[in-house]
Amino acid sequence: MRVLAIETSCDDTAAAVLDDSGVRASIVASQDMVHGKYGGIVPELASRQHMLAILPVIERALAEAAVTLDDIEAVTATYGPGLVGSLLVGLQVAKGIAFERGLPFIGVNHLEGHLLAILLDRPVPFPYLGLLVSGGHTSLYLVEDLGRYRQLGRTRDDAAGEAFDKGAKMLGLGFPGGREIDRRAAAGNRTAIRFPRASLKQGRYDFSFSGVKTSLRQYLLDGGDAALEDVCASFQEAIVEMLVVPTLKAARDLGTGVIVVSGGVSANSRLRTAMTEAGAAVGLEVAFPRVAYCTDNAAMIGYAGRVRLLRGERHDLTLNASATLPIGVAS
Ligand code: KG4
Ligand code: ZN
Repeated sequence: MRVLAIETSCDDTAAAVLDDSGVRASIVASQDMVHGKYGGIVPELASRQHMLAILPVIERALAEAAVTLDDIEAVTATYGPGLVGSLLVGLQVAKGIAFERGLPFIGVNHLEGHLLAILLDRPVPFPYLGLLVSGGHTSLYLVEDLGRYRQLGRTRDDAAGEAFDKGAKMLGLGFPGGREIDRRAAAGNRTAIRFPRASLKQGRYDFSFSGVKTSLRQYLLDGGDAALEDVCASFQEAIVEMLVVPTLKAARDLGTGVIVVSGGVSANSRLRTAMTEAGAAVGLEVAFPRVAYCTDNAAMIGYAGRVRLLRGERHDLTLNASATLPIGVAS
């Protein structure tokens, strides 16, 4: 089954083509240039930008896959969670194509896309532990099977990506700043400054990043004068450690197999090394999708949508966007 997948939940306009042989094309048009000067995503501008980009992005995906719309057999798109004005653009275009062509259609949960993205690169046996770390979410799930997700923990305040982005803003590194902190940190000393780590109640797998953000602000207000690279490396180390510790604890408590880390922050090079080493120390395998499938993309939506379409699942064309679409069950 050859599927066209569309993702516009936040600030990236993305389209992909997948078939039996895998991902034939995956195109992402970033809006960083639009939102950068505001220091954060402006929802109204995001939807307008999606309107401009969506058809050219779909055309590029079809061209790269060397197919036309005539070759597409089903359509899938993200329908939540995310910014409603953004979601509606991709969802309506997808439904329009499905309607005009008489093709099967299914909506996909963005978080499910992130949790399954690893399966584009390699098989992983169920159940696996899924840490989802992005700009909007930081949650830990037990991925029991395709479509069965048990939430084990979540952030009590900011998402990890939000902490990276707010820290980067304080350091004058632009928006979104996670990648820039990662880049600067590579040349820094991660033990230069000891930012406090939040420790949450025993027995839970929750996260908290507002404290480390505040302590960076205080450090700068107090005239902290360590080299920018050292500040980045130390700040990044605190966030990474607060992600690694509860995740490893959950993996050990639950006796799960592979730990899969996904979402935009899973592109972070220190998180990749630290989580892999911490896992190896206790005999646990850690897997990350390739970087292009960590940040927002339509290939992961195509994977999740295609699995459901192949099972015969469909949504009708009245499907609406949902800002808060839930995934799985809380435990
Ligand atoms: O998954 P994603 O592309 O969009 C959301 O659904 O949120 O994640 C974007 C987040 C941003 O906060 C960005 O700063 C962060 O991922 N990010 C990184 C890195 N690359 C992207 N954070 C730390 N290190 C990176 N290399
Ligand atoms: Zn995302």
